[in-house]
Amino acid sequence: MTQKSIRFPEGFLWGGATAANQMEGGFHEGNKGLNIADVLPGGKVRLKVLHEPGFNFEIDESKYSYPNHEAIDFYHRYKEDIALFAEMGFKVFRLSIAWTRIFPNGDELEPNEEGLAFYDRVFDELHHYGIEPVVTISHYEMPLNLVKEYGGWRNRELTTLFERYARVILKRYQTKVKYWMTFNEINSALIMPIMSMGFAIQKEEDRYQPIYQAFHHQFVASALAVKACHEIIPGSKIGCMILYAPVYSVDANPLNQLHALQEERIFNYFCGDVQVRGEYPSFIQDYFNKHGIELAIQAGDLELIREYTVDYIGFSYYMSRTEKIDKTKDDMTQGNILFGVKNPFLKVSDWGWEIDPIGLRISLNKLYDRYKVPLFVVENGLGAYDKVEEDGSIQDDYRIDYMREHIAAMRDAIHEDGVDLMGYTSWGCIDLVSASTGEMSKRYGFIYVDKHDDGSGTLDRKRKKSFFWYKDVIASNGEKLFS
Ligand code: BG6
Repeated sequence: MTQKSIRFPEGFLWGGATAANQMEGGFHEGNKGLNIADVLPGGKVRLKVLHEPGFNFEIDESKYSYPNHEAIDFYHRYKEDIALFAEMGFKVFRLSIAWTRIFPNGDELEPNEEGLAFYDRVFDELHHYGIEPVVTISHYEMPLNLVKEYGGWRNRELTTLFERYARVILKRYQTKVKYWMTFNEINSALIMPIMSMGFAIQKEEDRYQPIYQAFHHQFVASALAVKACHEIIPGSKIGCMILYAPVYSVDANPLNQLHALQEERIFNYFCGDVQVRGEYPSFIQDYFNKHGIELAIQAGDLELIREYTVDYIGFSYYMSRTEKIDKTKDDMTQGNILFGVKNPFLKVSDWGWEIDPIGLRISLNKLYDRYKVPLFVVENGLGAYDKVEEDGSIQDDYRIDYMREHIAAMRDAIHEDGVDLMGYTSWGCIDLVSASTGEMSKRYGFIYVDKHDDGSGTLDRKRKKSFFWYKDVIASNGEKLFS
């Protein structure tokens, strides 16, 4: 990557991103109800649970630990953490609201005042430092009661319950929050429906039908939330949120190219096409026929989806994916959660995720070419092992290198390719519990949290080397990437 000094556009939204279940802790406090993340075990066993059929959504403390219960205790330490974000110069802070703090079981008629008051305090603290919140309405933390009693998003009733929840928070925080997103990484359900749709695929069950029906319910719910957001908060912006990994063909063989294109459409574009363009894409009908999928669509659904499209696309970017037809086990990457084949041009992270900054520029171009709406990189970062040196410092140059290259890719997409990019919130700006593995040792933060996989640690916060680097990047509006 060449060394250039070009600033980002005025008003670019620099910041960091988190989710309630991975950071707050206080899982029983303030009348909060249990959610999905509360029953997911810590450690690599979590990946197994997420991918194998038949998970029972029960807590079993004799066998597993549950790191999300305490997480990093943001629930009690938010003031200290927000002060650190302010010190880095954050313009925005992305967080999610835990549905179970507002509706502990998800189906009450009246919200829980203690939960609402908690986020009032958090938003007030952010505004005290001039930081705008960016709020995800649902980030892998559906009320457990909705999982057990309703079957998660399989059940149409959830659209009503979600709309009630969305309207309550939109109204309550109408003067405090202007940037919203509906469902975190909505398309991730194609690989892990447990986290984002609140149901496990049962043994012997065909996975396609329930997942696509649940998508339809979420699209209706998303449209209802967009409608409510625009009604309640004029001038607000509400986006979708997609897990985006550009799909490369392994070579120029047209059959591999076609396969990559088809994978890209199903995984990357299907949800965006519905939420941004307001209609089911033409390619999906053939896919539905092939897999015997028949959607139950009620009168008025398609009109609602058409009318209430999102204002921007939020997306996460961690890796690209390389595909070929007829891949064997030996071709596969070890770590990528998206199951591509190995790309010989890319290095991998400590967790085997392929590192591809150019892929971010490609993603920005592809998304903007297709949709022509503002984009927002709401997650990107390096999960790595960090070491605390004897002098107490954390020299995370590998994280700085990673971020520098990714930020430079965004800069080039803006200045050389004409992409409209609103902002960048790096994932896990403070160390938190990993979503896929429940580990603390998979650290993303600029701020180190003294908490370990076995649950030990003082929870003290420390500034890493990357903290000071990111602070300079923000202060120079992206100009000081290379010093
Ligand atoms: C995204 C999620 O998939 O990636 C986050 O929105 C998650 O919740 C992040 O934490 C990084 O993944 P992981 O598994 O390393 O925590």
